[in-house]
Amino acid sequence: MDNYNEELGLRIPEHVAIIMDGNGRWAKAHLVPRNMGHSAGSKVVEQICEDAYNIGIKYLTVYAFSTENWKRSSEEVGALMLLLRNYLKDCIKRANSNNMRVIVIGDKSGLSDDIVETIQHLEEVTKDNTGLTFVIALNYGGRDELLRAMKKIGADIQNGSLSPDAITEQLISDYLDTRGIPDPDLLIRTSGEQRLSNFLPWQLAYTEFYFPEVLWPDFNKDELIKAVKKYNSRERRFGGRKEE
Ligand code: FPP
Repeated sequence: MDNYNEELGLRIPEHVAIIMDGNGRWAKAHLVPRNMGHSAGSKVVEQICEDAYNIGIKYLTVYAFSTENWKRSSEEVGALMLLLRNYLKDCIKRANSNNMRVIVIGDKSGLSDDIVETIQHLEEVTKDNTGLTFVIALNYGGRDELLRAMKKIGADIQNGSLSPDAITEQLISDYLDTRGIPDPDLLIRTSGEQRLSNFLPWQLAYTEFYFPEVLWPDFNKDELIKAVKKYNSRERRFGGRKEE
């Protein structure tokens, strides 16, 4: 359900999902190593969490590392993991001072033990916070998430705790990593690319898409407001017809 922000005169989407693309191109344009693009991008994530909440967004989901990102060079994967490890540790303090709840989605079994422990701690200590719900997709792939959900559904049918007749769209949503989180209203992918890249395929079925040219490290509050304005110009019908 959208909120209305009087000051901006805009309907604010409850849940915004972001594919943070363009870190590498930003680094190239600034003649610095790729890793500096990712670290500049991680600083933008921190700021956008605050800006998003201040304008009235309740849920923000970001694609931090996909199941396909392991194919990058070992140097880049190592640097991204180090960045994420430090970010998650640091997030514990910041989340509590900002009243932010943090949830990590994705296949945790593919992450190193210390990162999994940090995630468990971060989720546990922030679970009662009532400000922004910040969802980090880490070792996340939409098809992998659906596959894991289907295996769980199959296992529950086999052990007798679930009947095939009880499978509904809501039940499938409840078996996904995003259970309890409303579907995104707006998806932003920066850097002008227009692909989903295996991000939230089930959850984005009725979401509005926006593809600004800006590279992720240059994204800021003005760009976020521009995205919300674009969202306001769209008419959402969810498959129905416009009211006469
Ligand atoms: C895409 O840029 C970005 C990523 C693969 C990683 C996104 C990660 C961050 C922004 C930093 C860490 C995240 C958090 C939550 C702290 P790209 O490298 O594909 O850019 P390019 O297409 O220009 O090469």
